[in-house]
Amino acid sequence: MPASTFWPEFKTQSGARELDEILDERVFAFPKPTALIQRVIGYCAPPGCLVLDSFAGSGTTGHAVLATNTKDGGNRRFILVEMDDNIARTVTAERVKRVATGYTNSKGNVIEALGGGFQFCRLSPEPLFTAEGQIRPDVRFSQLAEFVWFAETGTGYTGRADSPLLGVHEGRAVYLLYNGILKDKSVSGGNVLTGPVFDVLPVFAGPKVIYAAANRMGARAAREGITFKQTPYALEV
Ligand SMILES: C[S@@+](CC[C@H](N)C(=O)[O-])C[C@H]1O[C@@H](n2cnc3c(N)ncnc32)[C@H](O)[C@@H]1O
Repeated sequence: MPASTFWPEFKTQSGARELDEILDERVFAFPKPTALIQRVIGYCAPPGCLVLDSFAGSGTTGHAVLATNTKDGGNRRFILVEMDDNIARTVTAERVKRVATGYTNSKGNVIEALGGGFQFCRLSPEPLFTAEGQIRPDVRFSQLAEFVWFAETGTGYTGRADSPLLGVHEGRAVYLLYNGILKDKSVSGGNVLTGPVFDVLPVFAGPKVIYAAANRMGARAAREGITFKQTPYALEV
């Protein structure tokens, strides 16, 4: 006999009905009901906790964390991991986005936002670093740019990665010199921060953090408002 309940009062089908109403389609046969995961969170994830679901699927765990926070103001956070790219985008992220921001369900009812949110990050198919912590030689500028930006700002990179100036975050410009991004106008293909290299970088008047293989600017770096970070060591891999 297939089990008919997850826990006496939580029927196995109730999670599927709930998900159907949120996403308006049948994606999983037996996703857990949000109320079930909320009960588990109530037992073992007090306010402030970081909840990990490394098999995120329908995203019930993210939904349950947001719902529990709404109830008790608990400021829990979550990490959801989903290996199927399509499920990750169209089910996991879509469900959590809808419940966080509010939506109209398949029955036409307006469902109030739970609040909160998340960042969507993609894991790279190959590691960027060798076992010794060096950047792998085939890593492209855009790949390292994403990593540097996240390490520096804690947010996902949305830029085009076509310039050594990756962007400005909270008043500070983030630069990366790597892999010939300066088209070899300069010393060592532009991976080393020197005075002439700095002079060809896009200008930013405020504080700057510059990631490069080495810094040969001497005292001028401080005068220009530069915080230098050496790749790969400053990336703490
Ligand atoms: C049964 S579903 C999870 C259900 C979800 N926790 C819920 O209660 O609604 C399992 C999911 O884990 C994903 N998965 C399986 N192996 C994985 C792995 N090694 N890393 C990340 N996700 C994985 C599958 O693609 C599937 O979407």
